[in-house]
Amino acid sequence: MAFLQWLETTAIADAVRTIPWLYPALESAHYIGIACLVGGIMLIDLRLLGVAKKLPIATMVTLLPWVWAGFLINLVTGGTIFIYGATGFGTNPPFQLKMALIALAGINAFLFEIAARRGRNSWVIDGQAPAMVKGVATLSLILWMSVVATGRWMAYV
Ligand code: HEM
Repeated sequence: MAFLQWLETTAIADAVRTIPWLYPALESAHYIGIACLVGGIMLIDLRLLGVAKKLPIATMVTLLPWVWAGFLINLVTGGTIFIYGATGFGTNPPFQLKMALIALAGINAFLFEIAARRGRNSWVIDGQAPAMVKGVATLSLILWMSVVATGRWMAYV
């Protein structure tokens, strides 16, 4: 708890407290990050599961840099908002669950990135994702939807 209290005394927390437009700007950027990350990865996951078969998987995976950009935006914006309200957010059970889910979803996304690189001359081209990749895609859908749900749930606890 002492560490969380210290975070709220930092210059970053002070900036969020004193610059009127900063908090709403961080929140807006957090939504843009969610749109890039969760929106992008859900479309790729649905294609891997066989939706919109006419869309080449090789084209869909070229969206991955935008997905990772969304992840980075949310790490920075979420982290800054967190520092500002560390004692409240740090002791918020949905927030703690959200962080655990983000860690799992991040590892899962990394596994997919490796699978996509290894499959770039096979299933990425022929458009038929193997069972393991469909498993990763299903887990990804469940984890990222849970991150969004726990993110929203934070406001109610
Ligand atoms: C990486 C993927 C992430 C996603 C998809 C995500 C999603 C969300 C969602 C859906 C909300 C609720 C917005 C609302 O109540 O209207 C939210 C709020 C929040 N998130 Fe994230 N988040 C992510 C990462 C992070 C990280 C890494 C942190 C902190 C280290 C964080 C900190 C917060 C905080 C503090 C709020 C509350 C904002 C407020 O009440 O003003 N988020 N997030």
